This record gives sequence, C-alpha cells and structure tokens, in this order.
Amino acid sequence: MVKIKTLIKDGMVVDPANNLRKTTNILINGNTVEKIHPKINPREADVVINAEDKLVVPGLIDLHVHLRDPGQTHKEDLATGTMAAAHGGFTSVACMPNTTPVLDTPERVKTLVQRLKKEAHVNVFPVAAVTKGLEGEVVTDFEGLKAAGAVAFSDDGKVVQRASIMHEALKRAEALSLPICQHAEDASLSCGTVINEGEVAEKLGVKGDPDISESVIIARDIVLAARTGGHVHVGHISTERGVTLVRRAKQMGIKVTAEVTPHHLLLTDEYVLKAGPNAKMRPPLRTQRDVEALRQALADGIIDCIATDHAPHAAEEKNVDLADAANGIVGLETALGLVLTHLVGEKVLSLEDAIAAMTYKPASILGLDKGMLAVGKDADITVIDLNKKWTVDPEAFFSKSRNTPFSGWQLTGKPVLTMVGGKVVWSDESINIEVVNSDKVS
Ligand code: NCD
Ligand code: ZN
Repeated sequence: MVKIKTLIKDGMVVDPANNLRKTTNILINGNTVEKIHPKINPREADVVINAEDKLVVPGLIDLHVHLRDPGQTHKEDLATGTMAAAHGGFTSVACMPNTTPVLDTPERVKTLVQRLKKEAHVNVFPVAAVTKGLEGEVVTDFEGLKAAGAVAFSDDGKVVQRASIMHEALKRAEALSLPICQHAEDASLSCGTVINEGEVAEKLGVKGDPDISESVIIARDIVLAARTGGHVHVGHISTERGVTLVRRAKQMGIKVTAEVTPHHLLLTDEYVLKAGPNAKMRPPLRTQRDVEALRQALADGIIDCIATDHAPHAAEEKNVDLADAANGIVGLETALGLVLTHLVGEKVLSLEDAIAAMTYKPASILGLDKGMLAVGKDADITVIDLNKKWTVDPEAFFSKSRNTPFSGWQLTGKPVLTMVGGKVVWSDESINIEVVNSDKVS
C-alpha cells in the first residue's frame, strides 16, 4: 500500500506531555508522525493542511463513552458514535460494556474488536464488565478479556456493590495491571432517587440522592485498593466529599485516579429546573460547592482527566416525566467547546492543562501509548480553531441522540479537523486541505 505523506503546516502545536508549545510543522508518513520541525519543505508531502492560526494538539481521548452497540442501536451505533467522537475532536474513546448483551466474555470482546475495524471512525478501546451481566455476583474472565482487547473493567451504569466482589476484582485486575473504573453509588442510599438531594428535589417532589452515596463507595474502594495494590479509577466524580477522599488517597500513595465530566464542572442541580430530563444523569448534578471543589481538584491534578460519559438516549426515553426519564446525556460533540470556553476561558485551567486532561492523562490511566505528538507515534491529531464562535445545535450532532442540556449555549473554540492514524476522518469547511501529489492520493 502506498504511504501518503501529509504535512500539517504552520500550526501552533501544543503537546503538554512533551512541554511543547510552538508554531511548527508536522509531517506524517502513512499512519505515524515522521518529523516535527519549523522548516519542512511542502514538496516532501502529498497533502498539505494549512493550520495557520490554528491550534494543533494530540488527538483527544475520552475514556468514558457509551456506544450502545450491540443491542441499543436506536440510541447510537459504532459508526455514529465514533463519527460524533471525530466531530468533537476525539481520536480515541474507551467504550463501556453496558450494551445488550453485556460485554462480559472474551468472545464478545473479540467480535466487537472485529466489527470496530470495519465500522469505527476513531480508535475504540473496549472496557469489559467486572461481573457477569453487570449483576455484581460473579467476576468475569479478566485474563481472557484482556487477551481479547479489553483495556479496563467496569460495571458502569451499575455499581460493584459488594466489597468482597470488588476486593477479588481489584486483586485480579492488579495482576494484569489494568484499572477498574467504578461508578460510585451506594444503592442502599441512592435507591429510588431522581436528582441530587436538596431544595430542587424538594421543589420538584422527587427523592434526592445524597452526596454520601458516592463517597462511601469511593472510601471503600480506596481501602480495597490500598489492601490489594489494585488501581481504582473513579468514574464521573461529582462531590466535594469524593474529591477529599481521592486527595487523601493520593497523598498516601494509593493507586487511585479520577475523571470528571464537563457537566459536573459546569452545572448544578438548579439546571434541572431549566433543562428537565436533559439535566438528569447519574451521578446527578450537585451543588455549587461541589462544582467549585471539582474545578479546584482538576486544576490541582487530584482529578486526573476529563471524560464525557457520552450517554445517548432516544427522544422517547427522555421526553417523559423527570422520574421516568433515562439517565445520561451526550457529550462528545460539546466537551471541547465547553472546556475551552468555560474552564480555559474562565482561567480555571491553563490551555496546556486542559489539553493534558483530554490527551496523555487519560491515555496513561488506560496504559495506552497515545496522547502525545512525537516522532514515531500514531498520527492521531486534532486541529482546533480557538476563536471560532458557535452555538450548540443538537440537530447538527453526528450522534443519533440529542439529549444535551447545552442546547443553545454559545461557545468559543471548536475542533476543525480530526486525524486518526494519518487519515483525516472529519474536517469542516474552514480548513484548507490541498492535494499536491494527485498521482498518489486518489
Ligand atoms: C449512563 C448510561 O446511560 O449508560 N448513564 C448515566 O446517567 N451516566 C451510565 C453511567 O455512566 O453510569
Ligand atoms: Zn456511570
């Protein structure tokens, strides 16, 4: 196969893993980065992408995505979910196992990996179930699942409720050097709850989820991680109390990492009054105090990374009474704009730290050799227009689902080109891609 050479010219390259921030060129040969240098002759390339005045970063990585395939393809499928990822600037995602059937056997992981090769537009790394059927009773075949391609384990959507099962799972995951991503929610406290506990829940007459439903599971898992040496990754952390525990555990050298979603960094339960079921997810939106603690922890590096928890649902599953509506919101196509506008824009994070939280940091949690721009690495690259103003329009999503609380938000900063393994999988009209060697590029 002929290898196409692509030049990304004159972009502001920011690569936090390598402390790089300068205007330079990147030459890609086939699917890898061949050269990064301020002077590269465009004649060396077959295709030239003009990235002048644009930001060029390692392809974004989201380690918490629900692709819904197999079995729930009315919400999303492998093709639409990964196009939504590309449209949002993501070149790699980890997909959660709460599909139908559940991703809980090596055979199912193998089948998924085979299908991804044909159907996915970005890199997808499967997360396999911790327990059979997500039922919390029998730990799955971790060795076989890893051999088939799983990069982590999670019962996400559900919780590993029993300490004995989590203990066993952490021991077995530790032996394989893989993390367990926990959806921290104690069912005995959260059962029957709809949104966060507090005034809004009272006003709406629904049962509220107390913040301790999250922190008691985080606390327990930290104890188990300390005992086993296993790596607990706290999915979508949402509370100040949870953050305090993670901070302490890290100080003690316990192997714990955490992710936070853009919505938990930006919204409180007040927003449920405005957006209704589109502001309903688990864990629920909390209080301003929690938001402040999450922002601070992310800035301090106590929370390692940003993940979307992209959770598509069909209109008929959302446009019902709040109490009956499905939990979760889509996130892939709004995450970067929200982070740039509200976290970088409001100086919660530097640009470098924001990109780090969406590139090499999630990669390192999953042990992926990705998330940085260096010679010899996969050419997974995102080009961003930091000045582009746009309005969130769910009708323009590539996702099959439209369940977002951010409809109508005006944002500044948007991906304009997404390259996966040297191939442009999505770009918008504002970016000029010139084919200079038409013999080689068909
Ligand atoms: C997720 C889903 O819809 O699969 N929903 C959600 O509210 N976050 C499950 C999950 O991430 O817990
Ligand atoms: Zn979850």
